[in-house]
Amino acid sequence: MLSKRELFLANVGQTSTMPLSLEIERAEGMYIYSTEGKQYLDLNSGISVSSLGHRHPKVVAAIQAQLDRYMHTMVYGEHVQTPQVAFAHLLLSQLDPSLQSVYFVMTGTETVELAIKLARRYTGRTKIFSCRNAYHGSTIGAESLRSDTEFTMHFQPSLAGIDHIEFNSFADLEKIDKHTAAVIMEPVQAEAGVQPPDSDYLPAVRKKCLEEGVLFVLDEIQTGFGRTGALFAHKKYEVVPDILLIGKSMGGGMPIGACVSSKEILGSIIKNPALGHITTFGGHPISASAALANLEVLLEEDIVEQVLHKEQLIRQLLQHEILAELRSSGLMMAVELTKKKYLKHVVQHTIEQGALIDYFLFNRKSFRLAPPLIISEDQIQKGCDILLRSMDYALKKYQR
Ligand SMILES: Cc1ncc(COP(=O)(O)O)c(C=O)c1O
Repeated sequence: MLSKRELFLANVGQTSTMPLSLEIERAEGMYIYSTEGKQYLDLNSGISVSSLGHRHPKVVAAIQAQLDRYMHTMVYGEHVQTPQVAFAHLLLSQLDPSLQSVYFVMTGTETVELAIKLARRYTGRTKIFSCRNAYHGSTIGAESLRSDTEFTMHFQPSLAGIDHIEFNSFADLEKIDKHTAAVIMEPVQAEAGVQPPDSDYLPAVRKKCLEEGVLFVLDEIQTGFGRTGALFAHKKYEVVPDILLIGKSMGGGMPIGACVSSKEILGSIIKNPALGHITTFGGHPISASAALANLEVLLEEDIVEQVLHKEQLIRQLLQHEILAELRSSGLMMAVELTKKKYLKHVVQHTIEQGALIDYFLFNRKSFRLAPPLIISEDQIQKGCDILLRSMDYALKKYQR
């Protein structure tokens, strides 16, 4: 009989030739447990998802309560569903008054597709700028925003009208003009290996967009819900987008995403044509109830407030001769090594020692650290000890 791992490789569609293939038994708090009985300290939150850790009791209770009421009842936007309404209300209470309305979808990439449609429809323009080395999702519109042509060339034709600017380049902002519908960017570039914005950069983008009548779209799919030490990174960097894109950790481990904008901008898909954007499962009641519980926990407990202190603690503990640079915004971190060749040894040895870290899409010298925000000081110490041992191990590999 085939093992689970063999069945996984044989029957489940693969995206990589070398999947990690960790066989999961259960997950709780900061830890994931394999079927072999091994405990893993989760230092990447399933790529910035499990900010409250795994199976937070209040999120689980909200899901269980909603399961007993209803699951799917109708396609998005036709029925009044309490979890959606309550979550949208609480979310909007935390945002600038210009962000007045929430359109729910299931995933991050769908929020990007909707933002592209809103930008075209609302401005009547077609040109869109994104930043080099940004990742916004894998559907064809979101993927067209990627700058790495060695990837996108295999899926041509991409969406027309996309051009790129360099993140943090003030000079490149001059490219944004009256033909531009939208600028879509992350406040902190994630897959580029955590590139925070230079001071005044995001306000300069905001200003240029206002001058040219361009929609400023911020992708907070990784940075949202406390990851950078503020509830949203745009608050930390003092800008307000026209369209805010959220997902990932929003659902406390359940799939949900949303576009948040003004009533006027979001209203542009209601008429001419009618039903300008529709989705069956967007804002699914179970996911929305989990998102509500997740946000309530973030607002009631001082989890977000502790993020900057935890960031500093990790920065103090992680010092090593093969560590070239630690870039971070809150608990969104990239550890850059002095040489590319060390990277895979550090990542593999860390996993072998029972902590989960990961690579970035567009940075071959850095590994990703994005632990659940609930990580304790003891767990930070334990995680950093493992990482330092892995860096020793990688260094020794190349020493004679
Ligand atoms: C910044 C950013 N935007 C969008 C996406 C796409 O989200 P999803 O995978 O939920 O479609 C991701 C996913 O990693 C992301 O990191």
